[in-house]
Amino acid sequence: MAEILEINDLKNLARRRVPTMFFDYADSGAWTESTYRANEEDFSKIKFRQRVLVDMTNRSLESTMIGEKVSMPVALAPTGSAGMQHADGEILAAQAAEEFGVPFTLSTMSICSIEDVAANTKKPFWFQLYVMRDKDFVLNLIDRAKAAKCSALVLTLDLQILAQRHKDIRNGLSAPPKMTPKNIIDMAIRPRWCLGMLGTQRRTFRNIVGHAKSVGDLASLASWTTEQFDPKLSWQDVEWIKERWGGKLILKGILDKEDAIMAAKTGADAIIVSNHGGRQLDGAPSSISVLPEIVEAVGDKIEVHMDGGIRSGQDVLKALCLGAKGTYIGRPFLYGLGAMGKQGVTKALEIIRKEADVTLALCGKRTIADIGPDMLYR
Ligand SMILES: Cc1cc2nc3c(=O)[nH]c(=O)nc-3n(C[C@H](O)[C@H](O)[C@H](O)COP(=O)(O)O)c2cc1C
Repeated sequence: MAEILEINDLKNLARRRVPTMFFDYADSGAWTESTYRANEEDFSKIKFRQRVLVDMTNRSLESTMIGEKVSMPVALAPTGSAGMQHADGEILAAQAAEEFGVPFTLSTMSICSIEDVAANTKKPFWFQLYVMRDKDFVLNLIDRAKAAKCSALVLTLDLQILAQRHKDIRNGLSAPPKMTPKNIIDMAIRPRWCLGMLGTQRRTFRNIVGHAKSVGDLASLASWTTEQFDPKLSWQDVEWIKERWGGKLILKGILDKEDAIMAAKTGADAIIVSNHGGRQLDGAPSSISVLPEIVEAVGDKIEVHMDGGIRSGQDVLKALCLGAKGTYIGRPFLYGLGAMGKQGVTKALEIIRKEADVTLALCGKRTIADIGPDMLYR
């Protein structure tokens, strides 16, 4: 196996080890994928200031996100179907994050349930909520996250209707995959993935099946998810969700200054500047390009986090320089998971930490608190 030195190495290995439909599910954006590409490309346009002869001993990436100590300000983003990249994927990623000292966010659309992850981890994780039309189901999900001692609720605001990702349609994406000749061949050449899946019972959306009314089997689940996301979700809904939850609340999917101002008024603890990894509104700007104006508008009122396009520790530092207090990675950890399970998620985090640490030093800084716009060329 070639040496794993950068996130792209994990991506290439995942491509070989994960069935096409699930690899493509991760590596895709909406429609033309222009926003998906822009998220990464816009990071590469930002340049650091190299500084010399500055004491670079005793460096640290430790920081806090919503008051929680983190070994570096990089959380694992909520990603649906992570348990299809690798058997028991959400449990493995949560364990890797916990050992590394960074937050793990479990998606509503996960394969392993809230209870599965809680039973297999020691520290609290974060739970991401999609709001469905079935309000009893939503209330119950919030209560289940509370019972599992999740320490933050991440409310996603940018997926009330689903944008189109061409690859998912062409591949006939489903969890578990349908047993068509094409899928059978695709899986058969990936025995490691198949063995993992045969060894687990967790192969469908376990937060939902058995919990939502009229979702007992897989045929009804597919129609349930497309019909169930609530297109009427409004700022008023944030109030009752906040009240019911009663803990730390993060609003995910803000890309516009006006929305950021509204979000700051809700009393939430943080916002995530995000375009859902380029998977929703194609043609929207990259997250990193709008971060500065959002920080300027609300940075003194609410903690601002960002995600989208981070592929290295350098990208993390660029986001922090532009005012983010925390960042999230989606695909980088999914590629790690698909490539090498828990070890691959740890590897992704290690790569990012090393890149961030060396970059910090070469820019003449030692701690996260030292980071600011003066580290960048403007
Ligand atoms: C395969 C995949 C599934 C995702 N599922 C969810 C989800 O269930 N809930 C959510 O809020 N965001 C979801 N997202 C968006 C991520 O939380 C995050 O915003 C995005 O991945 C960040 O971009 P990056 O992948 O470039 O790091 C998903 C992203 C990917 C790639």
